[in-house]
Amino acid sequence: MSQGLSWYIIVIVLFNVLGMLALIWWSGKGSSKKVAEGEEMGHVWDGDLREFNNPLPRWWLWMFYITIAFALVYFALYPALGKTKGVLNWTQEKAWEKEEKKADEEFAAFFQQFDGKDLTMLAGDPGAVRAGKRLYLNYCSQCHGSDAGGARGFPSLADNDWLYGGEPENIRTSILAGRNGMMPPFGPVLGDDGLEDVAAYVMQLNGRQVDDAKAKAGQEKFALNCAGCHMPDGTGNKFLGAPNLTNNIWVYGGSPGAIKMSIREGRNGVMPAHKDFLGEQKVELVAAYVLSLTEAAKEQ
Ligand code: HEC
Ligand code: HEC
Repeated sequence: MSQGLSWYIIVIVLFNVLGMLALIWWSGKGSSKKVAEGEEMGHVWDGDLREFNNPLPRWWLWMFYITIAFALVYFALYPALGKTKGVLNWTQEKAWEKEEKKADEEFAAFFQQFDGKDLTMLAGDPGAVRAGKRLYLNYCSQCHGSDAGGARGFPSLADNDWLYGGEPENIRTSILAGRNGMMPPFGPVLGDDGLEDVAAYVMQLNGRQVDDAKAKAGQEKFALNCAGCHMPDGTGNKFLGAPNLTNNIWVYGGSPGAIKMSIREGRNGVMPAHKDFLGEQKVELVAAYVLSLTEAAKEQ
């Protein structure tokens, strides 16, 4: 807020408060000195509508003064007038930090009961999974979906198909340290025809009917350009997060257009690191929830 705007607000607010005081004073002075309370003021409207001298009860008037006094005290204590800080030096950040600290203290005992248990055990503990699910809904669902089923560009965490592996330590690392998949753009390398060929081969890997000649040409190009990351058989590499291209499960969509777009433009999925943001205790619980989904998917 600029200095000018701050003063502008201060002047308007104080002017209004003073205006309120003036209004009370002005409406209270009346002509009660000349007419006794309860007597007629001598004004008549519509033939028989008479005004009596009935001032506001005292307590009512005091309410007005008290609210005005409250406002002035509030202005002094809190940052309520333009840029002024207020005597208490209150800020939203400090209030939030205080609440956070209180919540952390309150929940510490709750989280401690899970300390030192291994992830597989936690995934079988209904209390831990329930707590993990709540954390998941707060911190993960906006990207991975409220059922963890994923969305375009955001992998499903519930299908037992993994970019980076579904072992407890893989899942924990994905969440703690984040991930960054790097699929370079191959449009310029392959050219238009080359792109059609490789895409045909990728679709053939997924059991789709395609032009055989194209797929054959694509297979050579795949071996040359793609096998290094996606492996010669196309089943992917979990160290690089290079997806399996043979199981018809897609992060970015499996339509011919989406597959060609992945190859032509490249992809660059970013999973943010949550270590500093959530802390290891909470990550452990949310990881337990994700692991429990995997276990459920395996059983199906
Ligand atoms: C801002 C969006 C975003 C948020 C928030 C987010 N993720 Fe992710 N996550 C991603 C993306 C994108 C990927 C894929 C990264 C890649 O392509 O390399 C991913 C990958 C993962 C993986 C690896 C999946 C695999 O197949 O190996 C796990 C596990 C995961 N996220 C769990 C979580 C959990 C648990 C949370 C909440 C604490 C979370 N994510 C929050 C976007 C997000
Ligand atoms: C440097 C390693 C690397 C090379 C080389 C590479 N890819 Fe990828 N590819 C990846 C990674 C990593 C991803 C996942 C990107 C992400 O998570 O955002 C990916 C994603 C894809 C996808 C999207 C998959 C999905 O689930 O939606 C397709 C399709 C694909 N690659 C095909 C190819 C083809 C065809 C080639 C060769 C022309 C190729 N890739 C070469 C690493 C590579």
